[in-house]
Amino acid sequence: MDVDQYFFKYSLKPFRGGVNIKEEIWIEKYRPTKLDDIVGQDEIIRRLKSYVKTRNLPHLLFSGPPGVGKTAASISIVREIFGETWRNNFIELNASDERGIDIIRHKVKDFARMAPLGDADFKVIFLDEADALTNDAQSALRRTMERYSATTRFILSCNYSSKIIEPIQSRCAVYRFKPLSAEAVKKRVRFIADEEKLIVSEEGLSAIEYVASGDMRKAINALQAAALLGDQVDEETIYQITSTAKPEEIRNFIKTALSGDFVGARAALDDLLLSKGLSGQDVVVQIHRAMMDLDISDQEKVRLIDRIGEIDFRMTEGANERIQLEALLAYFALSKSNTP
Ligand SMILES: Nc1ncnc2c1ncn2[C@@H]1O[C@H](COP(=O)(O)OP(=O)(O)O)[C@@H](O)[C@H]1O
Ligand SMILES: [Mg+2]
Repeated sequence: MDVDQYFFKYSLKPFRGGVNIKEEIWIEKYRPTKLDDIVGQDEIIRRLKSYVKTRNLPHLLFSGPPGVGKTAASISIVREIFGETWRNNFIELNASDERGIDIIRHKVKDFARMAPLGDADFKVIFLDEADALTNDAQSALRRTMERYSATTRFILSCNYSSKIIEPIQSRCAVYRFKPLSAEAVKKRVRFIADEEKLIVSEEGLSAIEYVASGDMRKAINALQAAALLGDQVDEETIYQITSTAKPEEIRNFIKTALSGDFVGARAALDDLLLSKGLSGQDVVVQIHRAMMDLDISDQEKVRLIDRIGEIDFRMTEGANERIQLEALLAYFALSKSNTP
């Protein structure tokens, strides 16, 4: 089976960001095409470049949170090793599309079986969200990796490497991607903003960085959404379109509660939920993020964060969000005596 038949059989898109996408999505448009475009993962990139030099690859396992460059790094390294014709010897599959063993038995095996095209020594199978595979599927994958290792390299991407079975982990060089630093996010956003001729204020940039919390996909999506409203991007727009409260609003809200003013804090909560459109979970996440910067004792922080964890869990289990949030505020308000 040649590549075209293969794509036909499985109706895969051979090209990323295909021509049928009407409005170009910036996370595709600005997907790095070379390792040097990837920001904030310097040590990983340095090591990946050494593979490009030798034009050889071990199996790779990329783990880490979403939007930090795992797919980008995979595609960039394959492009750098194979050059122009990289698509001939590369396939991208998503394990969570079809959980289970079928994807391994058919798609992966069919591709692994084909000889590399052109003068390439091997082909690369990129398997995204590999931690969605069942243990059985992972065992089948392991056997396929062994059987075709002469002509096929795997790049597996996952959020948690602990969900990948040990025999696969031990066959791969493991790279742990971290959430991106503020500087890394800002650097890339500035670059895209320049390309798109947008004017992003310094506060707007900080807002994007806050909203993204280390996830470049979120940062770029926020920038593109803001750009639909005009070519000047400020913090108000960013917080508004992402339904995020400003960090200082959250800080004031917490301080009001901690001062014992339950009624005042409840009014501020109404504003967040009703006018700003935050969900109960959003509010809890933002309260949690604000805790470390609060001017209270460590002991007090520990006590409050413990309670935030409790409330978060109850909400996840389906408890009434409004009641849980008010209970949290009540708890904060009652701890008045312990705060400065
Ligand atoms: N470290 C990075 N440097 C530059 N762009 C990045 C980086 N990480 C993510 N991106 C951007 O965010 C989008 C999503 O990245 P991706 O590599 O698919 O994330 P992951 O696979 O880790 O979930 C990409 O299109 C890319 O434009
Ligand atoms: Mg990815």
